[in-house]
Amino acid sequence: MLDRKQKLQKLIELGLDISQIGDLDILLEKVLTEARRLVNADAGSIYIKDDVQLRFSYSQNDTLQANLDPGKKLIYTTFSIPINNQSISGFVANNGTALNIPDCYKISSALPFSFNSSFDQKAGYHTQSMLTVPMKNSRSQIIGLLQLINAKSDQNQIVPFADDDEPLIKHFAIYAANAIERAQMTRTTIMRMISMAELRDPKETGPHVNRVAAYAVELFEQWAHKNRMSDKELEMKRDGLRMAAMLHDVGKVAISDTILKKPGRFTDEEFEIMKQHTLLGSRLFQDARSVFDEVAAEVALNHHERWDGHGYPGHVDILSGNPLQGFASDNGKAKGKSESEIPLFGRIVAIADVYDALCSQRVYKAAWKEEDVIQEIEKERGHHFDPELVDLFLNNLDVIHSISARYPDHHD
Ligand code: C2E
Ligand code: SIN
Ligand code: SIN
Ligand code: SIN
Ligand code: FE
Ligand code: FE
Repeated sequence: MLDRKQKLQKLIELGLDISQIGDLDILLEKVLTEARRLVNADAGSIYIKDDVQLRFSYSQNDTLQANLDPGKKLIYTTFSIPINNQSISGFVANNGTALNIPDCYKISSALPFSFNSSFDQKAGYHTQSMLTVPMKNSRSQIIGLLQLINAKSDQNQIVPFADDDEPLIKHFAIYAANAIERAQMTRTTIMRMISMAELRDPKETGPHVNRVAAYAVELFEQWAHKNRMSDKELEMKRDGLRMAAMLHDVGKVAISDTILKKPGRFTDEEFEIMKQHTLLGSRLFQDARSVFDEVAAEVALNHHERWDGHGYPGHVDILSGNPLQGFASDNGKAKGKSESEIPLFGRIVAIADVYDALCSQRVYKAAWKEEDVIQEIEKERGHHFDPELVDLFLNNLDVIHSISARYPDHHD
C-alpha cells in the first residue's frame, strides 16, 4: 500500500506523462487559431459542455483585435448557455448536427433558434456568416462546440462558409475533441494531485492555482513580446510554465496541518518550517525526465526568492538544503538569489502568487482591497519583484481582472 506521499508522487508522474499533450487553455487557443486559419474566418469561439450547459470558454476576433495596441489581449467574459433549441449553439449541442448559417440576421423565423445579437452590440461587431460544429470524442459524446464567424473571401469580403468547408471543420473538430479531452484529463489529474496534497480546502485551492497559472502565463507573454521572443519559443515554453505555476506550492504537502492551517500569524520557527515547501516541492521533480520536470522544479524552488536578494531558500543544494559552496552568509544560512540569478519563471510566479495571495482571504489574513494590493506591488518594485515585470503586470491589469473573474473562489 502506498502512503499519501507515494501516491502523490505516482500521480505527479502520471500527470507529467500525459502533460506532454498540453495544457487546456493553451490547447483551446491553438485549436481555434488553426480552425480559423483553415477556412479564413475573422472570428470564432469555443464552447465546452459541462453536465447541463455550454460554457463559452474561449474567443478570438481579428477585427476587434486589430483595434487594440500591439501585444494587448482581447477581453471576453465567460457565460453559460442552456442546451436547448432556442440558441444557435444550444441547438447544435442538443442535436449534434452542424449549422452553417449564411447570415445570422436573416434566420428564418420558422427555425426554432434565433441569433442573440447582444454580443455584437456590446462589442461593436457585426456577425454575419457562422459555422457551428459539435466537437465529439471517440465515444461520440459531445464535449463542446467550435464556432467560426465571418468567413472572408480573397478580397476580404464577408461571405458564407463554403459547403465544402463543413466536412473539413467537422474532421478538425474530432481531432480537437480528443486533444481537449486529454488536456481536460491532465488538468483533472493536476487538480486531484493538488487536492490530495490537502494544501487546503480543494474548493479554494483550485481557483487559486488556476489564477496564479493564468497570471503567470499572461506576464510571460508580455515579457516575451517586449523582449522579442519568437512565437515558436514562446509557444514551447508557455505550456510548461502554466502547469509548473499550478504546482508552485505542491511542496506544502509535506508541511503539517498544524502549521499549514494555523489560523494566525506564524512564529519565526513555524515560518522556517514553512519555507521548506520550496525545496520539498522541487525535490518531487528531481528525476527531470522531461523539460516539464525541470520547469516545475525551477518554479517550486524559486517562487519565494526576492529581486533584492532577501528571499528564500537562496543558493542551496536541493537535496541537503545546505548552502552551496561559497554561498553561506554569516548566520550559516544560504545567501538569497538576486536579480537575474533568479530564473525568469521564478520571478514571474512570485508576482502572480503574491498578487493572488493578497487579493484572497487566507486562514491567517483577510483579503486586501485591490488598491492596497496594487500599492504593495508598486512599493516592492525593485525590492521583492523584478521591476520590468512589475511594469508589465501593472500595465495589464485589465487582463488580470478578466482572469480573476474567470476563476472565482467558491465560498458556500
Ligand atoms: P501564500 O498564502 O500563498 O502567500 C504567498 C506569498 O504572498 C507570501 O509568501 C508573501 O510573500 C505574500 N503574502 C501573503 N500574505 C501577505 C500579507 O499579509 N502581507 C504581505 N506583505 N505579504 C503577504 P511567504 O510570506 O513566504 O509565505 C509562504 C506561505 O507560507 C504562504 O503562502 C502561506 O501558506 C504560509 N504563511 C506565511 N505566513 C503565514 C502566517 O503567518 N500564518 C499562516 N497560517 N501561514 C502563513
Ligand atoms: C449562439 O451561438 O447561439 C450564441 C452566440 C450567438 O448567438 O451569437
Ligand atoms: C490556497 O490556500 O488556496 C492554496 C495554497 C496557497 O498557496 O496558500
Ligand atoms: C512578507 O512580508 O512576508 C513578504 C512580502 C514582501 O516582502 O513584500
Ligand atoms: Fe509558496
Ligand atoms: Fe501560493
